[in-house]
Amino acid sequence: MDNRSLVSIDDYTKEEILEVLARATEFEKNPNSNILEGKVISSLFFEPSTRTRLSFETAISRMGGKIVGFTDASSSSTTKGETLNDTIKMVSNYSDLIVMRHPIEGSARWASEVSDVPVINAGDGANQHPTQTMLDLYSIQKTQGTLENLNIFMVGDLKYGRTVHSLLMALSHFNPTFHFIAPKELEIPRAYKIFMDENNITYYEHTEFDSIINDADILYMTRVQRERFADPLEYEKVKNVYILKNDMLKDTRDNLRILHPLPRVNEIAVDVDANPKAYYFEQALNGVYARQAIIAKALNL
Ligand code: CP
Repeated sequence: MDNRSLVSIDDYTKEEILEVLARATEFEKNPNSNILEGKVISSLFFEPSTRTRLSFETAISRMGGKIVGFTDASSSSTTKGETLNDTIKMVSNYSDLIVMRHPIEGSARWASEVSDVPVINAGDGANQHPTQTMLDLYSIQKTQGTLENLNIFMVGDLKYGRTVHSLLMALSHFNPTFHFIAPKELEIPRAYKIFMDENNITYYEHTEFDSIINDADILYMTRVQRERFADPLEYEKVKNVYILKNDMLKDTRDNLRILHPLPRVNEIAVDVDANPKAYYFEQALNGVYARQAIIAKALNL
């Protein structure tokens, strides 16, 4: 593997996380530069995306780079039976860096091992979404003034939500207290509970939502991931299990900020959008700066 790849959030040490966040702050102050002049970045999206793809493309454009790639696997030779191995080998001949989203867990690691250029994982199945994590951390640091000792409440699809998995691993460096709110069917996977136990992270699991969020510093809402369910009836049972409404926020902390990786379906009522504690649209904008910093690190710029 090219050691500048970002496949899982634990490819970054705590120091590297802080270094990338500091660089993102610089990009927010001055997003436009030519540091990618002469560089070609491949953007391979085998799964749909709005924010991740467009914020990567914005980041690359603002840094003066060129983008090649596809937004839909059906327009690539994957449909003719080309393997991921061969696609990545070809694309690494054409470009200086590969950004890839793929539905199969572990595909990004595989790609990084066969590629001659760094690979950035833009989401691999229900596994990891490390660039989302960096923008989440940036948003948390920006709104709370620190990443240390926070009460983090994560709500919704904690089983399939890859952003949750990456974020809890990253926050483990910063002494969090986690509250996980999910129905039994969507609880946090055992592997992550073992990870937290091994790292002495305090966490609580709940199935009730309404009455327990008043101590939260961050409320991280997630969508139930319909596309990951083998049985559509199972999705129907849990799809609207938690809906955040504005009146639920009246006794919450002043510093509370509501994050969501988006897209939202029903899990945050639109009346929350006007509440100053709602931060999810700013969070998505922060993705441009975080991804600029990640690209700069991957290319040693
Ligand atoms: N947060 C996120 O990954 O959004 P997209 O699926 O739109 O990229």
